[in-house]
Amino acid sequence: MCGIIGYIGNRHVTPLLLEGLKRMEYRGYDSAGVAVMNGSGVETRKAAGKISQLERALVTSPVDGDMGIGHTRWATHGVPNECNAHPHVDCKGDIAVVHNGIIENSGTLKQGLQARGHRFVYLIEEAFDGNLEDAVIEALWQIEGTYGIAVVSSKDRNKIVAARKGSPLLIGLGDGEYYVASDVSAILAHTREVVYLDDGDVAILTREGYTVLNQRAQELERRVSKIDWDLDQIERGGFDHFMLKEIFEQPATVENCMRGRLLPDEGTSKLGGLNMTDEELLRFDNILITACGTSWHSALIGEHMLESLARVPVEVEYASELRYRNPIVTDKTLCIVISQSGETADTLAAMREAKARGARTYGIVNVVGSTIARESDGGIYVHAGPEIGVASTKAFTSQVIALLLFTLKLARLRTLSMVDGKAIIEEMQALPGKIQNILDRADEIEKIAEEFKNSQNFLYLGRGYSFPTALEGALKLKEISYIHAEGYPAAEMKHGPIALIDEKMPVVFITPHDSVFDKVVSNVQEVKARGGRVIAITTREEDALEGKLDYEFRIPETKDMLTPVLASVPLQLLAYYMAVKRGTNVDQPRNLAKSVTVE
Ligand code: M6R
Repeated sequence: MCGIIGYIGNRHVTPLLLEGLKRMEYRGYDSAGVAVMNGSGVETRKAAGKISQLERALVTSPVDGDMGIGHTRWATHGVPNECNAHPHVDCKGDIAVVHNGIIENSGTLKQGLQARGHRFVYLIEEAFDGNLEDAVIEALWQIEGTYGIAVVSSKDRNKIVAARKGSPLLIGLGDGEYYVASDVSAILAHTREVVYLDDGDVAILTREGYTVLNQRAQELERRVSKIDWDLDQIERGGFDHFMLKEIFEQPATVENCMRGRLLPDEGTSKLGGLNMTDEELLRFDNILITACGTSWHSALIGEHMLESLARVPVEVEYASELRYRNPIVTDKTLCIVISQSGETADTLAAMREAKARGARTYGIVNVVGSTIARESDGGIYVHAGPEIGVASTKAFTSQVIALLLFTLKLARLRTLSMVDGKAIIEEMQALPGKIQNILDRADEIEKIAEEFKNSQNFLYLGRGYSFPTALEGALKLKEISYIHAEGYPAAEMKHGPIALIDEKMPVVFITPHDSVFDKVVSNVQEVKARGGRVIAITTREEDALEGKLDYEFRIPETKDMLTPVLASVPLQLLAYYMAVKRGTNVDQPRNLAKSVTVE
């Protein structure tokens, strides 16, 4: 969360900074600002609110130059007003800093600096003796916590100094021009060659080139990576919102995740980034899957698949909980780490903790080059392409596919027959067409949304593979429409939530014709008997449900373990249309940010 952009070259910097900030706005949209270097020195403009407010401020009070830094903020400490917006400037107005992350010893630093007549952000000013990188390095030695920073100074102009620890940062390489950014989308319109910085790196960008140092000022080698995303992947392409575009991309993204990885004749998968031999794979006693939010929901589906097909004990844990427990993790544990962004602070910390305890780590990640992707022992990119909408959609369905690919590999080595493996693959290959079938009927979901748009609460119920789907459906609804929604195992309803049921409570049942269908029918009856309104996601005409459903949406039949991929699509659409009808900001819901890089 929070986005940093910096540019040094010969072009007008302000439009470049604004463009980069707009592309990163999903990372944070509480306030924004730029600091530009020109003949007058460092000039800043800041505004509370979205980038459009900053744009307005720049119309009223224009500023330009050929190098500068910018920031979009997701507030952690301090209210999201103009004063707290970045860049922060030192007492003399010579040095400007943008910062992501949390400085844990800020309280101590602040006291010390105030006593000396300064404020916290001026550590660099105190250390400055004519050379900006030396001052930055000296200041960084005093800081505890996480950061991604970019700094400019009119007293050592013609350079940007950037550094990272725990907050992603990359350098974009141009011809006589260089960029620094939190995210590749900010600079993709200008370059596809990037250098990902590692924790502890300090980079110096000039018009002539770049250098990466460690904190002892020793020069480091960093590999140049080529980005193969297209610009249209990070644009809305005619859709009203990124979220809708991303929902509609799912036939293609699911296909992309499977491409080249299925071995239909052998009923198994081929995983290039596994970095483990079959013997090593068979050595594990147990699997621990860790993630946050939507990725945690896909982990629950993975648990189910791995246990039933590969017959291996699996535990799923919220990354934020795992890191503060004393988990039983050994060198016989495989830790699967799931993250769309690959940068979620809790997930990264949990992965490092598991590694430190001897576990082998396997990352299921979307963003190429992200920290989790780079630090895990092996991994699979889900290839969903850039996901810009804050509510995760296509990354979720691709995570489920990636988990099934891994499950197939392990299960075929352990207990799954070739015949069963082949049958699963056949169903996987049919998924893109089945998702398209659902999307072609999006208007049916829109009508349901119209009916329920004024509801205050929602319950989502499912059993077996459909329980995590219920959790995911409820999360989608609450995060973008601000309606209180709960996901629950259908049979658990009678142990408490049933007290909530009345004619004002819409209940979404995920009731495919799977192994627990008959059981869920009883739960539908329990809701109907208490006046609840039932919206059901079903797979076929069912006598048992006759007269019990207020609304029904049919998804194509598939194997049980693939139902979450299909059932989550109408739930994404339901959340989307509800939010649109309620007038909320679908792509940038209040208080949220796309990737949570702070604890
Ligand atoms: O990037 P990650 O998958 O690690 O992100 C985890 C969660 O922050 C994320 O899934 C969040 O819950 C989304 N907003 C859900 O739509």
